[in-house]
Amino acid sequence: VTFDLVGRSNLINRSGAQLIGVPPTGAIDMAGLLNKRYELGRLVGQALSDESYVQDLDIPEDETAEIKVPLRISTFPLLETSGRRIGVITLIKDITEVVSLERELRTAERLTSLGTLSAGIAHEIKNPLSAIDLNLRLLESEVLENVHDGDTKEYFRILREEIGRLNAIVDNVLRFSRPSSAPGGPVDVAGILQRTVDLLAHTCRERAISVDVRIEADSCVLWGDASGLQQAFLNILLNAIQSMHEAGSIRVSLDISGGDGPDRSCELTVQDSGCGIHARDIERIFDPFFTNKSGGTGLGLSIVHRIVSDHKGTVQVSSAPGKGTRFVVRLPMAAQEVLS
Ligand SMILES: Nc1ncnc2c1ncn2[C@@H]1O[C@H](COP(=O)(O)OP(=O)(O)O)[C@@H](O)[C@H]1O
Ligand SMILES: [Mg+2]
Repeated sequence: VTFDLVGRSNLINRSGAQLIGVPPTGAIDMAGLLNKRYELGRLVGQALSDESYVQDLDIPEDETAEIKVPLRISTFPLLETSGRRIGVITLIKDITEVVSLERELRTAERLTSLGTLSAGIAHEIKNPLSAIDLNLRLLESEVLENVHDGDTKEYFRILREEIGRLNAIVDNVLRFSRPSSAPGGPVDVAGILQRTVDLLAHTCRERAISVDVRIEADSCVLWGDASGLQQAFLNILLNAIQSMHEAGSIRVSLDISGGDGPDRSCELTVQDSGCGIHARDIERIFDPFFTNKSGGTGLGLSIVHRIVSDHKGTVQVSSAPGKGTRFVVRLPMAAQEVLS
């Protein structure tokens, strides 16, 4: 887009018009631009009034603005052949895709390093923990032969229970950090999704949470690890349930996206009406041990990420704090032909 010295656009190419939201032959002035996206207007204004230009300056997405997408902006002086300055040339790029790729890469990097570290620790804890468990059971049977009061029994029960919790955490860490070793097989995604929802039906009824399941794709069969995928679906649904303090709703749907080509995927969407996720947390929810819950382990979503990546799939999350959260899991069905 080029602007003259009073801040009126005199040339917009087609994609520029589309991005800014004016007709292909239309124009926009400074006030209009500031209205649509304040930072963009400010940068053009700065170039016009102070002759200060920017190169490849990224501004993050802004849900409240009319132009919402993240932008990369450069401004240059627009000069006549005589060298006289007659305006500003502005290059505006929609960098939605770049931003989401960068985010994915950062998450993957963090998960790899944290995964290696925590797998090492979990492995070291596993052996002493089994020794403690075994010896505690021996001690318990000896002590309870001679001592018969309820308190002592209760102490042992608590010890066993807490050791059980530690064991579960260690197993989860190992599960998250070890590459999947489960043998692959044909997986009926609709079937395991329905079974997972059924598992949680009772909990949902108790908490007055309505669950609406819409399965558009009944022949969503792919090659993978059925129990792993069930675990992933379970973790996402459990989080949805836990995000609600009182009654609420969860909408689950399964579709096939990407047509018949190589992008053909099973697409699972889980939308809840829970507390939502704060923007500053959203990049960290897949990190192992990141949790906002008092009894949480912070491992649920890191396991989801691992399992879905093992299937060459993706997980996307979008959330409005106070309103709810949506998780979309895409699982490619590339091995479909092999199956049939
Ligand atoms: N559906 C959701 N609604 C709101 N917050 C969520 C949702 N799913 C995940 N989160 C946030 O992500 C964090 C990490 O989730 P997770 O890895 O499953 O660990 P945990 O459930 O043990 O806290 C949660 O503590 C919560 O803050
Ligand atoms: Mg969880």
